[in-house]
Parts: sequence; C-alpha cells; structure tokens
Amino acid sequence: MVIVMAPGATADNIDALVELVTSAGGEAYVTRGVSRTIIGLVGDVERFQDLGLAAKPGVSDVLRISAPYKLVSRENHDSRTVVSVRGVPIGGDNMTVIAGPCAVETPEQTLEAARMARAAGAALLRGGAYKPRTSPYAFQGLGEEGLKILADVREKTGLPIVTEVVDAADVELVASYADMLQVGTRNMQNFALLQAVGDAGKPVLLKRGMSATIEEWLMAAEYIAQRGNLDIVLCERGIRTFEKATRNTLDISAVPVAQNLTHLPVIVDPSHSGGKRDLVLPLSRAAIAIGADGVIVDVHPSPETALCDGPQALLEEDLAELRDLSATLATLSGRTLT
Ligand code: E4P
Ligand code: PEP
Repeated sequence: MVIVMAPGATADNIDALVELVTSAGGEAYVTRGVSRTIIGLVGDVERFQDLGLAAKPGVSDVLRISAPYKLVSRENHDSRTVVSVRGVPIGGDNMTVIAGPCAVETPEQTLEAARMARAAGAALLRGGAYKPRTSPYAFQGLGEEGLKILADVREKTGLPIVTEVVDAADVELVASYADMLQVGTRNMQNFALLQAVGDAGKPVLLKRGMSATIEEWLMAAEYIAQRGNLDIVLCERGIRTFEKATRNTLDISAVPVAQNLTHLPVIVDPSHSGGKRDLVLPLSRAAIAIGADGVIVDVHPSPETALCDGPQALLEEDLAELRDLSATLATLSGRTLT
C-alpha cells in the first residue's frame, strides 16, 4: 500500500502517519520528491484499511497494490481450479458447454430442451425454476415444481443440472435438487445470498453483475470462497453500455483479464449478452477462441411460445453448428470438449 501526500503536507503530518502505521505493526518507508512525498507501507493491508489513512491530514491518496481478494486470486494459487459438477469438469484443459431453456416451463419442454442441449454438445443442463424478472407481472418461474421437473429430466438424460437461486432463504431447497447453483447478474452483490450459496456445499456459477467491474465480480466470488467453497465458476454475460444493438455488450476482454487475475474457470453466456439468436453462435465462437472455459446457452423447442427470453434461444438447426464449433475451436486452443 502507498500513501501519496498532498503538495502542502507538513513534516508533522508525515510523522503522524509513520507513527500510526508502526503502532499498527507495519513498516513505513518515506520517499521525499520535489513536490510530493510518498510513504510505502509494508505489513497487513487489511489492518491498514481500518486506520482511516485517506482521511488523515495531508493525505492526497491511498493506493492499494495487492489485490483485495485473496482466496480467488491467482497470486496465492498456482494451479487453475477445475470445478467438478457431478463429475463434469469445468476449467483446466476442458471446454464445457452448458445448455437448456432459460426457464423451466413444462416437463415436456424441459425434456425436449435437454435433448437439444445434448445435440449441441452440452455436458450440463441449465434451466431456471426461479426467474429474476424486471417486471413483477412477468413469469417468475415454477419454483419447487420446476426443480422437480429438472431432477426428473436429469434422471432421464443423465445431464447434471445448473439452476438459479434468487433468495438466500431458498438456497437449501434449491441445493437439494441442483448440481450447481447459479447466482445471476442481478444478485451478484447480494452478499447474504453469496454467503448462503457458499455454505451450501454445491459448486456455484457466479454471473458478472451487468454493471459490475471485474474487481467487484471477484470480490463477490471472494464472499463465496470465504465460506470454504472454492468450487466457483465465473460467467461473463454482458454488461450495460450505451449500445442498444445488443441486449448487453459482451465484454470479451473480461475473459483473459479475469483468467489472469483468478484461478477460477471463466465461461461466457452469449445468449444473455447478445439477446438475439443470430448473435449467439458468433459470440460463442469469439468466447471459445479467446480461451473461455465454456459457454452457457439458451435452447428452446418453441421459442415463439417461450415464457422468458425466446428471442435468444437457439433452434434445432443451430445445434450441430454449436457442437462443431465448440469441438473444433476447443481443440485449436488446446482444450478438450467435455
Ligand atoms: C432470464 O434469464 C432473466 O430472468 C431475464 O433475462 C430477465 O429479463 P427480463 O425480466 O427483463 O425479461
Ligand atoms: C439466466 O441465465 O437465466 C439469467 C437470468 O441470466 P442473467 O443473470 O445473466 O441475466
């Protein structure tokens, strides 16, 4: 950590800071420049955070140098984490496709969507039973009935299930059916929910908040990790920008940036990013080519009647292309399609 002193800072201001830092068990190294003085701090950064340094007289800025997240940082973790979802690996040398309906609507629709997911090369089935909707009048999901449908489809197809939980109070129930718990974009900073999924003993898919920085996203993952759960997969799903041609702007650069900062796998959701069917395959191609650990896509047997996000669901005729491009590009980037 570095304290940058204001141009008019006095020797007393500097001495007071050195005294404060050393009394907190740290070391302070003062470097006097022509117009500015900086003080380099060595020691327990979390402890320095509590000293209120930025508000002390003569201080212009306090800069943190090490990452504020510890458990999910690559700094303290040499190998890349491979998350196993009922035996299906995500991360490492694997490329994993997750596919399924945006929302679970009926047993028939979910089973058919699972068949489509398989045809698209998916190893995991996605599907929401609890839907976070902008409008309180929109379809909110089937709740536990939807979870039962998912469990039944898992039984019939062997595909492990990834499903969203939107409320900390539901985590135990959702975890009793799900193989992986999803925390959606709208809940990325719902800290009570993050702690509850961290305690649930299931792998977690953590989507990036639509207005969150990468650091905020990793801090959200840190909340889960802090509960002893490092089985976390990060998902870039597009961010809010001024651009209206897409539902969200896929921040493709977030994939290598996050992969450099954390040991956790990073996947991409091209469906919620683009919001339009014809963008899903090009965005998937970009995601896999840039080295994402997987993609999660919406498929639906009849998108025109879908209760949620029909326009972004892939159709039957798109599935073989997704499977082929995933297999080909995964191989080119040194990965194996799981
Ligand atoms: C689906 O997965 C989300 O619930 C959906 O994208 C929410 O968006 P909307 O409620 O604005 O349609
Ligand atoms: C979803 O995947 O069902 C979903 C709600 O996505 P997001 O949180 O990215 O909007």
